[in-house]
Amino acid sequence: MLVAVLNSKGGVGKSTLAAHAALWLHDRGIRVAVVDADAQASTSEWLTIAAPRIRLERCDNVAALQDRLPRLTAIHAVVIADGPAALSPETAVLAAAADIVLLPIGPSMMDIWASYRTARLLYRLRLRGPRADRPRVWTVLNRVQPRTRLARVAVEAVQRFGFPVAATPLRLRTAYAEACGARSAVWRMGPAARDAALEIERLFEEVLAPVVAAETPVAAPTSAVTRPLTAVWQAAPTNPPPTPDKRTPARADPAAAPAGCPDGGPGRGWRQGVADDGRARGGAAVRAPAAKPGPG
Ligand SMILES: Nc1ncnc2c1ncn2[C@@H]1O[C@H](COP(=O)(O)OP(=O)(O)OP(=O)(O)O)[C@@H](O)[C@H]1O
Ligand SMILES: [Mg+2]
Repeated sequence: MLVAVLNSKGGVGKSTLAAHAALWLHDRGIRVAVVDADAQASTSEWLTIAAPRIRLERCDNVAALQDRLPRLTAIHAVVIADGPAALSPETAVLAAAADIVLLPIGPSMMDIWASYRTARLLYRLRLRGPRADRPRVWTVLNRVQPRTRLARVAVEAVQRFGFPVAATPLRLRTAYAEACGARSAVWRMGPAARDAALEIERLFEEVLAPVVAAETPVAAPTSAVTRPLTAVWQAAPTNPPPTPDKRTPARADPAAAPAGCPDGGPGRGWRQGVADDGRARGGAAVRAPAAKPGPG
């Protein structure tokens, strides 16, 4: 089974999530391999120390991916792939081969807009690709500061991609950044990283447990709308995400789509709730943040 962590937007937490996912599976005795398609190779450097027994493959080109992916998935229960920070041919190969895609997104409209093209690629693969409804996609909000207007707007906006949103977002915590420097995982870092350990455990139990339990086909994730987002955010999203219509491919509002993404899209009207200038549109009970989006 291949779990790919993808987003063409840089700095959204792909490597952080991929390294932790690999370590989480490894620490549970799962036979896991890692494909590092990130040119910076930070996951490889991280895991070489954190878990020397995990099989690591640097694959920064299509030929290498096409060669290694089938071999690795044949002899490992799970292969975790850390994707590049671009909508490159390597991203497309990983997306097409993946059983599950984790799509980390930062809680700023800049991150969300920049993630649109990756979401669209995944949406089209699920709709028209050779494997019906594959890959399964989880949107994972990262570097979140709860109870902020920015967080509420982010939830609203990513739901419009039409993929399930993991009920447990990862908060902005120094422990995640320290884990990389320490070549460790947050659950190995003692009491100071306890909150991070608990939250990432909840996240992986949600998005990876079926993989662990099974090594059988993963059950359809529960729709984000029904997940207890309120418990996490203390602010319930008011609008359910649109259901992609399989008979007529969804088309985004061209005026609302980011440059370079004029047609098609992940979920109908994914951005219609928030106008470019931040004013709520279409009756959505959200307001864009006045604050400048965070880094990343
Ligand atoms: N939840 C978090 N809280 C605090 N810092 C975080 C969090 N997630 C990631 N970071 C930090 O943000 C930075 C970017 O993360 P990371 O390298 O995982 O992103 P990426 O998507 O792999 O980037 P790239 O696209 O460049 O490969 C790193 O310094 C990482 O330690
Ligand atoms: Mg990376």
